[in-house]
Amino acid sequence: MFARVLAAVTGAGKQCEPRLSNGVRVFSNLRDVNGIPIEVHNDSGSKRVVVTKSLPGDRWLQFLVNAGCRVEVCKHEDIILNNSTIKKLIGSHCDGVIGQLTEDWSSELFGALHAAGGRAYSNYAVGYNNVRVEEATKREIPVGNTPGVLTETTAELAAALTLAAARRVVEADGFMRAGSYRGWLPNLFVGSLLQNKTVGIIGAGRIGAAYARMMVEGHKMNLLYYDPYPNRQLEEYVRRYGELLQQSGEAPVWCRRADSMEEVLQQADVVSLHCNLDASTRHLINAHRLALMKPNAVLVNAARGPCIDEAALVEHLKANPDFRCGLDVFEHEPAMAPGLADCPNAVIVPHIASASLWTRNGMATLAAANVAGVLSGHPVWNKPDVLPFVEGPLEQAPAAAPSIVNAKELGLRLLA
Ligand SMILES: NC(=O)c1ccc[n+]([C@@H]2O[C@H](COP(=O)([O-])OP(=O)(O)OC[C@H]3O[C@@H](n4cnc5c(N)ncnc54)[C@H](O)[C@@H]3O)[C@@H](O)[C@H]2O)c1
Repeated sequence: MFARVLAAVTGAGKQCEPRLSNGVRVFSNLRDVNGIPIEVHNDSGSKRVVVTKSLPGDRWLQFLVNAGCRVEVCKHEDIILNNSTIKKLIGSHCDGVIGQLTEDWSSELFGALHAAGGRAYSNYAVGYNNVRVEEATKREIPVGNTPGVLTETTAELAAALTLAAARRVVEADGFMRAGSYRGWLPNLFVGSLLQNKTVGIIGAGRIGAAYARMMVEGHKMNLLYYDPYPNRQLEEYVRRYGELLQQSGEAPVWCRRADSMEEVLQQADVVSLHCNLDASTRHLINAHRLALMKPNAVLVNAARGPCIDEAALVEHLKANPDFRCGLDVFEHEPAMAPGLADCPNAVIVPHIASASLWTRNGMATLAAANVAGVLSGHPVWNKPDVLPFVEGPLEQAPAAAPSIVNAKELGLRLLA
């Protein structure tokens, strides 16, 4: 039925040509698999790869086509696919899947993929808290993710949320659009100055460190961070920047790793979360910890929603009108905690931290290169720099899978 409707609307069955930049002619067909509409690329490919959502760019497709894959992109109208739909897509034979962070990749889906002969899975994300990696490992399925192309883009959105919250940009924008502005006033939308204040980072990994550098360099903020592991490179970077400022006659900035997260919460003017989500970071920010923060602090979350007890945050925002937050992610996405949308002191955006075109194209390329690399029997790339996959001529891309999180557990060969 769905396929018939789609056929009527889109002319399913007709061939259309995707925009491929290297001159490879690959035709796509609109078809259906087990009643689910799909777009097929490289019909004659010998390995069947299912992609659960349309991905941006063309390069990712070239990786899979060059690896001899027939690529089937799901065109189902549901934004979030349930397990039943994904199992129908996997069908009885499937070599690999590129899936989304909104999907529940645990025993049920890895069981279905394994039964269909699946040998590769990649998340289209750097975070993989939606994946039960041990369930894939048990079935000898390598799991890929896409680190290295989200860092600066995600950090920039965290910085944008910080500024928007501190300077009340969204509130003021709404005021203008409502036609409420009748003239300049000394007290109109007064916010907080960031310059020379203290920024606190929870999780100083790739994104946390990039965000920290933006806030330190851009606003000369001091840096207090909490992470179970020290980030010596970041500490050294800030130390040298502080020296540079001093040489120019300005006050130096400092960087310190806090002994506890509580210390960061108590002392920082801005706190930004950049830890991964696991059992230890779920509800990391709760009512008790919110109460430790300065009443006019800014809290930013571009990590994962469940890191914050969102109901407690709503209560805190209501009780402390000068406290502000910037949220990219939500505890029960796509829903928001009741009352959050009514808090003028919250800036809220729909999980767009990685949404720059360069990053989204890069994520697609890395996810495809993971699946193509594993299905081709290539080794695993073992360097943090993934740009050779993402940029430059395709023929010069490394013959490797860029990032396989269970490579060690599966004893996969690393690129020498
Ligand atoms: N909003 C988005 O669109 C978006 C985009 C990219 C990444 N992310 C999220 O950001 C997270 C971080 O990404 P990354 O590339 O910087 O990862 P990363 O692994 O480089 O950094 C995570 C850091 O968190 C630290 N950490 C772990 N547990 C902690 C704890 N209890 N307290 C403090 N620190 C802790 C780790 O030691 C590590 O340094 C990802 O796991 C993902 O969930 C979100």
